[in-house]
Amino acid sequence: MALILGIESSCDETAAAVIDGNGATLATRIVAQRIASQDEAHRPYGGVVPEIAARAHVEVLGPMVEAVLADAGLALGDVDAIAATAGPGLIGGVMVGLVTAKALAMAADKPLVAVNHLEGHALSPRLADPSLCYPYLLLLVSGGHCQILEVAGVGQYRRLATTIDDALGEAFDKTAKILGLGYPGGPAVERLAREGNPKAVPLPRPLVGSGEPHFSFAGLKSAVMRAKDAGVHADADIAASFQQAALDCVVDRTRIALSVAAPGMTALVVAGGVAANAALRGALVALAADHGLPLVAPPPKLCTDNAAMIGWAGVERFALGYTDPLDVAARPRWPLDENAAPVRGAGVKA
Ligand code: KG4
Ligand code: ZN
Repeated sequence: MALILGIESSCDETAAAVIDGNGATLATRIVAQRIASQDEAHRPYGGVVPEIAARAHVEVLGPMVEAVLADAGLALGDVDAIAATAGPGLIGGVMVGLVTAKALAMAADKPLVAVNHLEGHALSPRLADPSLCYPYLLLLVSGGHCQILEVAGVGQYRRLATTIDDALGEAFDKTAKILGLGYPGGPAVERLAREGNPKAVPLPRPLVGSGEPHFSFAGLKSAVMRAKDAGVHADADIAASFQQAALDCVVDRTRIALSVAAPGMTALVVAGGVAANAALRGALVALAADHGLPLVAPPPKLCTDNAAMIGWAGVERFALGYTDPLDVAARPRWPLDENAAPVRGAGVKA
C-alpha cells in the first residue's frame, strides 16, 4: 500500500497532501490536503513576486506538513515515500519544497520522488477519474504553460503544440490587469465575462486555421489593450469578447491536434489552472464529442496548483520504482517532452 506525502511550492501556493495509492475513488485517495494561497501577499504588485513567494513558503511549509500528517492521523514514518515538485517554476520556491522533502526523507529514511510540476498537472485527471487510461490527448493550460501533449504513460510525453508567446493563463491574467480586475486574474475575468456580450468587441483569433496546432496570444492581448484604451466598450463586454476569442483559439488548435494525434487516444483531457474555467470546459465537451471521445477534466480545485496532484504523480512514479537521489537538483525549466523541437515564431528563425 503506497501512502505518499506530496509537497508543492513552485509558484504562489504552498501545499501538502497525503495520498493513498490504493484508494479506489478521489475521496479515498486524498487522505488529507492543505493549501495556503499567497494571493494577499502578491496582490499589491499585480503578480507573483518570486522573493516574497519563497519567503512565504519557508514560513508556512514546515507547520503545514505537520498539520496534514495530523489530519491524516499518521506519523512521518507511516508514509512510503515523499514526493515534491522539483521544477519547473520559481526556483526559490521550488528549492524550499524540495529541500524540505529531502530533509524529511533523510530524517525518516524514506525514498524521495522528484516530481515535474507539469507531470502533476498531466496526471491529475487520473487521480480524479480512476477509469482514465493511457494514452490520452492532454491540453495543459496554466499560467506558465500552454501545450497539447500525447500522454502515453508516466514520463512518456510527446508534445504536439506549444505557445509561441504567451500562455493561456497569462493572457487571462494580462486581460485582468488591463481591466483593473487585480490578481489572480483568470477567475475574475471569467466572472465578469458572464455579464458581457462575447460578440460586442471584435478581437483577433491568432493562428486559427493554421495547419500546426500551436498557440499565440500576444496579439489578442494587445487588441484587448487597444479596446480598453478606445474607451467605448463596457469592461464586461471586453472580458466576454476576450474569453470567447481565447476559447475559439483553443478549440481550433485542439481540433487540429486531435487530427494529427496518434490513433487510439482514449480521451481528451484538460488540466492546469485555466481548466478551472467553466466556459472552456463547455467548449471542449462539444469538441471531444465531435471526435467520439469523452472530455475528462479534474474538479476545479485540482486544476489550480495543489499538492494532491504532486502526491498522485508520486504514487504513479513510486509504483514503477522511480525514486530519486537526495542530491537531485531543482530545475527552473523542465519540459515534459525533452525532445520537442523549438517552434518557429518563438524567437526561432525559419
Ligand atoms: O496551474 P496554475 O494554478 O499555476 C501554474 O502552474 O501556472 O494556473 C494558474 C493560472 C493563472 O493564470 C490563473 O489566472 C488561471 O490559471 N486560472 C483561470 C481560472 N482559474 C485559474 N483562468 C481562467 N478562468 C479561470 N476560472
Ligand atoms: Zn501549475
